[in-house]
Amino acid sequence: MKDQLENLASQLKTAIAAADSLAALTAFETEKMGRKSEFNALMKGLGALPADERAAMGALANTLKTEVQAAFDAKKNELDAASAGAIGETERIDVSVPGTRRDEGHLHLTSQAIMEITEIFRRVGFSRVRHPEVDWDHYAFETLNMPKEHPARDEWETFFVDAPVSETMGKMVLTPHTSSGQVREMEKGKLPIRMINIGKCYRRQIDVSHVPMFHQFEGLLIDKDVKVTHLKGVLDYFAREFFGPDRVTRLRPFHFRFTEPSFEVDISCGICGGSGKLDDGNKCRLCKEGWLELGGAGMVHPNVLKAGGIDPEENGGFAFGWGVERTMAMKSGVKLDDIRVLYKSDFRFLQQF
Ligand code: FA5
Repeated sequence: MKDQLENLASQLKTAIAAADSLAALTAFETEKMGRKSEFNALMKGLGALPADERAAMGALANTLKTEVQAAFDAKKNELDAASAGAIGETERIDVSVPGTRRDEGHLHLTSQAIMEITEIFRRVGFSRVRHPEVDWDHYAFETLNMPKEHPARDEWETFFVDAPVSETMGKMVLTPHTSSGQVREMEKGKLPIRMINIGKCYRRQIDVSHVPMFHQFEGLLIDKDVKVTHLKGVLDYFAREFFGPDRVTRLRPFHFRFTEPSFEVDISCGICGGSGKLDDGNKCRLCKEGWLELGGAGMVHPNVLKAGGIDPEENGGFAFGWGVERTMAMKSGVKLDDIRVLYKSDFRFLQQF
């Protein structure tokens, strides 16, 4: 028994000394020192010894067990320390190494412009609304004083949807302008109206200054005693807020079927200040004559008011509708040689804004 115990203890100490990893040591502990181990079986066997031998063997077994345990603990400490050292080596952080910048997204510049436009008009009481981007001919043309077959419709180069035609609403279209929201807003039946309708518009056009999907923002104000001077005041306010304090607008006579009188709105050029000439006497290359064209506007036509259930004798108003893309391109001073770049998802372009 004595030899058996001493041999086993010596084997265990050799095995402990040979263990080269914490995993190996843990496996060893379970197998060689656990409840089902040979060592434990021997310890249990002590009970069967005659009483005079049992005390001496028990003392020896305990001494050997303490020695094995001490060897085990010492080895575990050694391996623990080695492993901590290895982690320190492999996971060392050098705080002086320059960081890696994470890619950060941002809103598309059209979305940025839409947010800014919404906020500017909100400050003078216009609420942002949304109207369908796929709508009926009725709202896109008919109620805007453009009856079927009227040649004015041609300018809107419309996409018609291949869907059943409604007897009362006509064909379904991809809205070619946000003006289709005018009568829809009037039909809500609440006066006065101060809406700013911003949405996607679609036209069968594509070239350097046209995209088939673009955005417009449409202002509509309906109330009592609304005059052209109110329209001019709102447009000048927008020009100052969006483009800068020295900018003003100019109204040029024009023709739209849904406004009377109608205007094209120009804004004074930010480069030459509206003179068309630079300090050195040369012509301004951006505008050539002092003004840049922004979009259309006018006093809402009585027929449109009637289509929206509003008595033109009682109430009147103004409307304007501009392209978001062209307006923001004018602001940034970025000469967009090709407006299509906005929607090409080319990071080299988008990341600049
Ligand atoms: C209209 O669409 C009228 N509904 C505007 C209006 C509203 C007039 C209310 C009176 C009262 P026009 O077709 O000119 O007008 O378009 C207005 C603006 O939309 C243009 O000045 C331009 O900035 C923008 N736009 C038009 N077509 C495109 C296109 N294919 N790509 C990019 N922008 C466009």
